[in-house]
Amino acid sequence: MRIAVLPGDGIGPEVTAEAVKVLQTIADTQGGLQFDFEEHLIGGTAIRESGSPLPPASLDACLASDAVLLGAVGSPEYDRLPPHQRPEAGLLLLRRALGGYANLRPAIAYDAISACSPLRVEVSRGADILIVRELLGGLYFGEPRGFSGEGVTSAVNTMRYSVDEIERVAHVAFAAARKRRGKVTSVDKANVLETSQLWRKTVSRVAEGYADVELDHLYVDACAMHLITNPRRFDVVLTENLFGDILSDEAAVITGSLGMLASASVGGEVELYEPVHGSAPDIAGRGIANPFGAIASAAMLLRHTANMEQEASDIEQAIQLVLEAGYRTPDIAGETRGHMATTAEIGDLVSESLAEIVDMRHAYHAV
Ligand code: NAD
Ligand code: IPM
Ligand code: MN
Repeated sequence: MRIAVLPGDGIGPEVTAEAVKVLQTIADTQGGLQFDFEEHLIGGTAIRESGSPLPPASLDACLASDAVLLGAVGSPEYDRLPPHQRPEAGLLLLRRALGGYANLRPAIAYDAISACSPLRVEVSRGADILIVRELLGGLYFGEPRGFSGEGVTSAVNTMRYSVDEIERVAHVAFAAARKRRGKVTSVDKANVLETSQLWRKTVSRVAEGYADVELDHLYVDACAMHLITNPRRFDVVLTENLFGDILSDEAAVITGSLGMLASASVGGEVELYEPVHGSAPDIAGRGIANPFGAIASAAMLLRHTANMEQEASDIEQAIQLVLEAGYRTPDIAGETRGHMATTAEIGDLVSESLAEIVDMRHAYHAV
């Protein structure tokens, strides 16, 4: 498998290195499987080295790969650039070019770190949510957009959705719910926005083809409240681009840290895997970033692109074992501060644990 690796900015390279390490462990334990990792530039790092947030060589390499593994983009030094020159523009261009319109963002409350969430354990325990975020429409891409007026006196962005765009992402959400607990909550602002009224009508129509899946609708403001007061009421959350961006960071609170969240963007030519968090300039370069979200994104890569469900769940199990053994980066240390580990040590621990899991299964099958 050819995997384009785009470490990006800030903690991106730190966490991506651990995801690559874990994938390499999978390859080492499987005869005949080989990953070719090719690193490419994106974001602020790419601006510095080539003048563009997504150099053509990076884009071409991604389009020629089986999957793309990305760290994060964004850096305060580029915050004053016009929108299309910023590091974030490189990521949006890449997402659109790869074509994955359904961004899967699971948020799972691990028992081992339940004390790290500001939510009471009775509230968060057992929560297991899949946010399906529409990724290529809405305010992020709608035209017209831009600044106007002498000296910039106004600015505009456009929220636009077509029936086709809503239908295709809705199918992904209903299909996912079928394999989970059979419930989709569609989130919109249909009490105010026309795009949301079209969203609700279209999702309801798609639901008719999935009689075994229960559908309910929530307004986004109420959803934001329910997410952290009663997270167990949710199975699959289906929503548009900007709402999904905001609600997924909020859902991270259920797990204890934004560093825990993984994502996969599916449905396009080439699938894209990236943790939900950003470049975290406040902690970059110190070896303390939480790599679990990046590592869990590598597990999603095995599940969705390589069709290796067993190995994907092996990685997820290894993550759980390392957490249960008490190893922590500062963001998930809670009050204990026991077994503090660096980003690289966490990657090593997950790899070791993974190798043991695979060995045990091989031994079991040999008996
Ligand atoms: P952020 O996600 O980078 O950080 C928010 C907070 O969470 C910070 O306190 C940070 O230290 C912490 N955090 C995030 N990931 C962590 C991890 N793995 N381990 C430990 N702590 C972690 O969001 P921000 O500060 O709002 O944005 C910083 C930059 O990242 C901006 O330029 C933004 O545009 C960009 N960004 C990029 C992506 C992406 O590449 N997908 C996502 C979000 C933000
Ligand atoms: C995310 C990020 C991105 C988004 C930014 C960096 C463009 O916040 O992946 O959640 O808004 O989609
Ligand atoms: Mn975000």
